[in-house]
Amino acid sequence: MIEQMLSDTSLLKTQGFINGQWVSAENGAEFDVVNPASNEVIARVADLGGKETKQAIELAHDAMAVWSKKTPKEKSAVLRKWFDLVMENKDDLAKIMTLEQGKIFAEARGEVIYGASYIEWFAEEAKRIYGDVLPSTSTDRRSLVIKQPIGVVGAITPWNFPVAMITRKVAPALAAGCSIVLKPAAETPLSALALAELAQRAGIPSGMFNVVPGVAAAEIGEQLTGHSLVKKVTFTGSTRVGKILMAQAAQTVKRTSMELGGNAPVLVFDDADMDKAVEGALAAKFRNAGQTCICANRILVQSGVYEEFVSKYTEKVQAFVVGNGLAEKSTMGPLITRIAVENVSSLVEDALSKGAKLTAGGDNSGAEGGYFFQPTVIRDADQSMRIAKEEVFGPVAPIFRFDTEEEAVAMANDTEFGLAAYLFTKDQSRSWRISERLDYGMVGVNETAISSEVIPFGGVKESGQGREGSKYGLEDYLEMKYVCLGDI
Ligand code: SIN
Repeated sequence: MIEQMLSDTSLLKTQGFINGQWVSAENGAEFDVVNPASNEVIARVADLGGKETKQAIELAHDAMAVWSKKTPKEKSAVLRKWFDLVMENKDDLAKIMTLEQGKIFAEARGEVIYGASYIEWFAEEAKRIYGDVLPSTSTDRRSLVIKQPIGVVGAITPWNFPVAMITRKVAPALAAGCSIVLKPAAETPLSALALAELAQRAGIPSGMFNVVPGVAAAEIGEQLTGHSLVKKVTFTGSTRVGKILMAQAAQTVKRTSMELGGNAPVLVFDDADMDKAVEGALAAKFRNAGQTCICANRILVQSGVYEEFVSKYTEKVQAFVVGNGLAEKSTMGPLITRIAVENVSSLVEDALSKGAKLTAGGDNSGAEGGYFFQPTVIRDADQSMRIAKEEVFGPVAPIFRFDTEEEAVAMANDTEFGLAAYLFTKDQSRSWRISERLDYGMVGVNETAISSEVIPFGGVKESGQGREGSKYGLEDYLEMKYVCLGDI
């Protein structure tokens, strides 16, 4: 059925990809990939485990020798070719994504373009890896710093952005000279495998980019964090799993990059441009049906504009059309699983039982067959509710009230998370003041569409460590070596 929807049916791959070969599980096991809009099985994919992951790591280690013989310019050209192929095939990639992940087609297409931008960016950065010459401490010595690939990278990626979270790890790894073994989310392996097919067509050498799909996440994760040949682990996902991976990786002192959970506040001040604030908070909340780490989790609105904001925001939210992401009229798709729907329902129930009131949505009515939840607005939310503390990961917007700037900053920082925060105000001094006081890795002022390949994406506190994208993003894949030349 997927095949009939694609212009290039050979992008639909259902085996793992190790050392340039498409492989089945040794025991023949497969797992189901389900369309969350219909609850139908759309493909069965090879269920690889620890054994295949170990093989992939060892072959990935050998592959680095081949890649290291290419000049930075040659590596750049191969990455650029991969970017071109992803862009040429963006509609097919977007269809695959909508079918396995649920997001509406326009958003899926946008994600493929966003994901491709990391490949293009790091194709360029591959040519710009510089060392350094340090001041000498004596006349017969010279001290140098050279940058080298850190080694094999183990990557674990989530289902919410099935292309972009992969390219923003794989592209810098390859640009730096590292090979990579990727475990994509079991919910969305098809996007990852299609990317691998295009990487192979682009000329990325066998073994440099390997994909190990599987449901045995702990077993695969143990290899990626425990094998001595893996030198770095990069993960996007929950804080709970991130902590486990960090503890495992510590046993062999691996470098880690962790992009973990968020609890993003949007602060709307009395002096904000109200239409901009409503639009910004809407986009930040309902992108990908609320399943984004930098989604607006809490909307904090100053008392003077609270009623106006709630009313304008509710009106916009009521206009969403929930449905299958491939249907033209849909403006929001399903959640990823039934459990996700249950989690969101329970957060809403908790808030309502503690005094919050619904102004839109509130349940999973309206769209049959899949894992849908109506876009929901809750007013009069407060700090006693679970929704103030937990990552919602669904289309529910709780609106809190504050009186003073001091109170707003305290509420915004009252969380163990620190990924993204947003504020709306026309006062420039306040923009500065609050941006500096927010304990977050990223702050959007009068803007919530903050992501792109040129910015350092990442968080502080329990939202993780390391930055992805930007001119800083390559450093996480490079090791610094000091060389002392004596007897000059
Ligand atoms: C995420 O959910 O962490 C990714 C969001 C983005 O890249 O904008």
